[in-house]
Amino acid sequence: MKLFIDDANIEAIKRLTDLYPIDGVTTNPSILAKAKRDPRETLKEIRSIIGEDAVLFAQAVDLTYEGMLRDAHMIVDLLGKNTVVKIPSNPTGFKAMKALKKEGIATCGTVVYTPMQAYLAAKAGASYVAPYINRIDNMGYDGVRVTKQIQDILDANDFDCEVLAASFKNSQQVLELCEYGVGGATCAPDVIDGFVKNMAIDAAIQTFVDDFEKLTGKTSMSALDE
Ligand code: E4P
Repeated sequence: MKLFIDDANIEAIKRLTDLYPIDGVTTNPSILAKAKRDPRETLKEIRSIIGEDAVLFAQAVDLTYEGMLRDAHMIVDLLGKNTVVKIPSNPTGFKAMKALKKEGIATCGTVVYTPMQAYLAAKAGASYVAPYINRIDNMGYDGVRVTKQIQDILDANDFDCEVLAASFKNSQQVLELCEYGVGGATCAPDVIDGFVKNMAIDAAIQTFVDDFEKLTGKTSMSALDE
């Protein structure tokens, strides 16, 4: 399962890409709004941090077909290779996905709440489909179950499209999808940190250092040579 950061906070992206095996960054207009500056600057800075080999997702904002294409062209011109344009998975969006596929521009069918939206986005040529786990849960359905169904639909139909599971609120939701082997998950920084936030782990790691120090008076192997 690929792992992406679902955030536009520059310091958080620097910290997480430094520490963890991250495949890229996903954004949406609401995430960019939190940065309170020109979204083009934010996206360009993210691209410079993650490098050209990581995947960066930015969303077309215009809701018309022509506007989606214009936004997509602008996003790709701005951010270069390995950029994926998020397009809402509605009828106009499917039309835009078909056109962008013909142009060779990678898209992600976003705002996916139902398996059949994902089916249509994948069939329209989207490279990713993004079900919103927590938002589906909040509607009284099971977001993890819906996402597993979507993965099954992609596999059964042999679509060249990956799940990009999104809108997580806890690591348990991510764990279940990781176990199932969905294509990818995008998580806010606190959710990623939550994968390993555990006092028992921290204590066990510190005990090794303490025991070594009792034996040698040093807190590292290399210090033994000093
Ligand atoms: C990512 O593709 C989505 O835009 C995002 O995960 C939505 O998350 P939210 O439900 O926390 O806003």
